[in-house]
Amino acid sequence: MTQSDMSVPVKRCDVAILGGLIIDGTGAPRYAGDVFLKDGRIVAMGADQSDWQADMTLDASGCVVAPGFVDVHTHDDRAVLVSEQILPKLSQGVTTVVTGNCGLSVAPYKKSETPPPLDLILEQMDLGQQPQRYATFEQYMQVLENADLAVNVVPLVGHTSLRVQAVQDLNRPADKAETAQMRDWVEEAMQAGAWGMSSGVFYPPAKAATTQELIEVGRPLTAAKGQYVTHLRDEGNQILEAMAEAFEVGRALDIRVVLSHHKVVGVANHGRSRETLAAILEAAQTQPVALDCYPYHASSTMLHPDLLVRAKRTQVTWSTPHPEMTGQMLDDIAQMWGVTEKEAAQRLVPGGAIYYAMDEQDVQAILSFDNTMIGSDGIAHDIRPHPRLWGTFPRVLGHYSRDIGLFDLETAVHKMTGLPANNFGLIDRGVLREGAWGDVVIFDPETIQDRASFENPVSPSAGIRSVLVNGKLTFTPGHELTPGGGQVLRRP
Ligand code: ZN
Ligand code: CU
Repeated sequence: MTQSDMSVPVKRCDVAILGGLIIDGTGAPRYAGDVFLKDGRIVAMGADQSDWQADMTLDASGCVVAPGFVDVHTHDDRAVLVSEQILPKLSQGVTTVVTGNCGLSVAPYKKSETPPPLDLILEQMDLGQQPQRYATFEQYMQVLENADLAVNVVPLVGHTSLRVQAVQDLNRPADKAETAQMRDWVEEAMQAGAWGMSSGVFYPPAKAATTQELIEVGRPLTAAKGQYVTHLRDEGNQILEAMAEAFEVGRALDIRVVLSHHKVVGVANHGRSRETLAAILEAAQTQPVALDCYPYHASSTMLHPDLLVRAKRTQVTWSTPHPEMTGQMLDDIAQMWGVTEKEAAQRLVPGGAIYYAMDEQDVQAILSFDNTMIGSDGIAHDIRPHPRLWGTFPRVLGHYSRDIGLFDLETAVHKMTGLPANNFGLIDRGVLREGAWGDVVIFDPETIQDRASFENPVSPSAGIRSVLVNGKLTFTPGHELTPGGGQVLRRP
């Protein structure tokens, strides 16, 4: 500050973002303005703020300034502890991740065995000195609190993780004592600040769980006003029945239901988003319902022989017995080995796969549905991941909003900011306004574009300029990411 400046009253802040177009996350139209951050929060916004002086200035001319994106569907429970594993998310503008989805959470978990799909989150990541298991949810929360997080974390507790530990025979419903044990763990998780319970009754370890088991285990969610977040029992022929089950759990517990990665799979079911979205609208008249979606017409999860029938083609993303087959198409492998695809899959497990099983028209109908949030469902440790891991958010902004005009940019941003913040009850996030947390992404609306593809899946997106997490400049393309700005959020 020079002598002559001393006479002018100057307000000091940490960061000034100047000359951008503000899209505030509420869905409201963009407007030109500056954003000023201090002590992690937004202290001023709008035009005509020339009395602010900042330690750091970011030029946002020609760019959109938006709230940092909330990835509502992740398996980043461990990835958040390893900076480079969270780069796929930060490089897209994501500043908050919801973890513990699809019934799979890292806590509480005491067993050494991790039957698939638990291996998706509990194995295959080098955590160095960090503990590999968490006996309680609180212990996991404390590890997150003591870590140098690069993003904010909103953890869920997973029913499947509990079930694998409590239920003697996974091929039957839980008995009374086992149910009580799981319910106690949910109670402990909610007290430690979990945001809800996820389930994945689609997957083998939880398939035998009845609707009643889900309700009884989820009892503590009612008082805590947690979310019931579910990977449906069936996303194919029986999808309406599976949705009815999810809604029943939500009604019984009097809490919001979030349908994870909503889609209809199987060629025979193409076009049925018309029915599923109508069912969601109908349920939403009497109970809170939300959903999320990733912007691709292929899915990805564990490799399993029973899942092959749904897809036109299947691609291997990793395989423990045959790592050399990573990236290969299953039909090619089967031909090479002179076996059926099912037999080839049996030889390749444990592993992961991409299933080409959806219809683009359904994907677009679901994405543009009013209450649809964006969730990547990316799996950080996949050697050859689904491109959604690196591309989800820029693909919605670039391809779906700008290029094909599925919805305007304000709506696209709302689906990844204000809408998830409202649905999950994240206070002072998902919105740019005075007093809100300084989670901010600056991107170029002309060039924003996913670059990850099925052919070349590990590739950062174009068009992201800067990402700030709680006021800290965390990511700029071409520079190392700087962790430390993220926080673990405990449900109030
Ligand atoms: Zn899932
Ligand atoms: Cu998932």
